[in-house]
Amino acid sequence: MARKVDIKYTQLFINNEFVNSVSGKTFPVYNPANEEKIADVYEGDKADVDKAVAAAKEAFKRGSEWRTMDASKRAVLMHKLADLMMRDFQYLTVLRVMEGGKVSSASYSEVVYAADTLRYAAGWADKIHGQTIPTDGPYFTYTRKEPVGVVGQIIPWNAPVLMAAWKLAPAFATGCTVVLKPAEDTPLCALYIAALCKEAGFPTGVVNVVPGYGSTAGAAIASHPDVAKVAFTGSVVVGKSIMAAAAQSNLKKVSLELGGKSPLIILPDADIDEAVNIAHDCVFVNQGQACCAGTRTFVHENIYDEFVKKAKAKAEARKVGDPFEDGVVQGPQINEKMMNKVLDYIKSGKEQGAHIECGGERLGTTGYFIKPTVFSNVTDDMKIAKEEIFGPVQSILKFKTLEEAIERANNTSYGLAAGILTKDINSALTCANALEAGSIWVNCFLVIPVQAPFGGYKESGIGREMGEETLHEYLEVKTVSVKLPSKS
Ligand code: NAI
Ligand code: MG
Repeated sequence: MARKVDIKYTQLFINNEFVNSVSGKTFPVYNPANEEKIADVYEGDKADVDKAVAAAKEAFKRGSEWRTMDASKRAVLMHKLADLMMRDFQYLTVLRVMEGGKVSSASYSEVVYAADTLRYAAGWADKIHGQTIPTDGPYFTYTRKEPVGVVGQIIPWNAPVLMAAWKLAPAFATGCTVVLKPAEDTPLCALYIAALCKEAGFPTGVVNVVPGYGSTAGAAIASHPDVAKVAFTGSVVVGKSIMAAAAQSNLKKVSLELGGKSPLIILPDADIDEAVNIAHDCVFVNQGQACCAGTRTFVHENIYDEFVKKAKAKAEARKVGDPFEDGVVQGPQINEKMMNKVLDYIKSGKEQGAHIECGGERLGTTGYFIKPTVFSNVTDDMKIAKEEIFGPVQSILKFKTLEEAIERANNTSYGLAAGILTKDINSALTCANALEAGSIWVNCFLVIPVQAPFGGYKESGIGREMGEETLHEYLEVKTVSVKLPSKS
């Protein structure tokens, strides 16, 4: 696979055209593996968001091409976009590795997953319908499911291709129009996807992409009076600010996906080698930069010491380095700030008395690599057991009874996902019922099918993405009652 591609798009995408930002300002995008600058990208701000929202509003106007298009045709466009992403999978994969540092095999999988997301949602486009409702007459009452209108979508850097698809797919399926702001670290994949939307034939203004910073372009979307709904993935603190901005501006609908501190409970009857592998993969995935990473590994006391020994060996064997290189499974953290944040958490783990089994420091001096790190003797009160680290750090906690494990697993403000490894059906189903999280994984982790809803309890978010559930976030329900001449 090529290790570099030419950067084709660095401007904002508004009204199916690539344009400079109003201010003319740009910001640099770096490759986190080698710290080299990849491109200068035009920086959108409030004035650009206003332009993009106006374009999206025009595209959503009553009688517009998009509003009057046969719903089945929207599905055709979505399939076409998925086809184009797969036609250009090599380009997108390399771009994904360059701007985000995810290893190439996983970057490729992300592109496929994104295309699958579009295809699944395309199936819904012409199956969104209301009901006829028996009411006390003489009325004929029915409901219509209507697109909410202009949707603002703010996405993070940890899965820039997939997050774009998770957001765009339901908007297209329901007939909304979009202003999408990619993260400042990873704007390039989203801009490329915008070009593919144009090539696929989406009408002018349906998709607009405004790269820029969160506190400027992102905040302008969240508080825009003509944006009917905002969908956000990122940190809890920004999620709360978006909800506040939505409340203060126009009560726009809000859906939030805000990460977690997901527990994985391992009972003594689980196959220990398989358990070590699952626990390892679910925390180290994507350099630990995953919202649903299983970052609290709860291991039963009977198998604790053996588990820790094997988890350490597994982490030590993990190949970290150039994300383009075959066999490398861990690339760099996204940027220097995030790397330092993770290193600070590691420091706090040491200071608070957790036992460091391996890793615990930066790898090399160029690129933001961190050695896979395993902590044992972690207790619930430690920062590394409470806060989202978003890095390659496994915290292994000990428990005695299942009841205790469930209580401790739920003792968090987060609730995105949780897992249980056991051969005992009663324990598995007790956990599945008792754990407070949007996704429960039994004898597996990180299983996120495009056909099933995904989202969080508690401060992990509001609303669901994917599956049928996601459509509701993008729809209004209208009730129509028609007076009839008489009861009949
Ligand atoms: P962030 O929440 O600041 O960034 C995510 C997106 O929100 C980016 O597009 C950013 O430009 C935008 N944004 C930032 N401030 C905004 C504002 N005031 N209004 C509107 N949009 C805004 O997250 P950041 O700083 O990149 O990472 C901080 C932590 O957040 C991570 O360490 C991790 O714990 C968590 N995170 C969770 C993610 C998830 O998948 N749920 C993804 C990325 C980060
Ligand atoms: Mg930030």
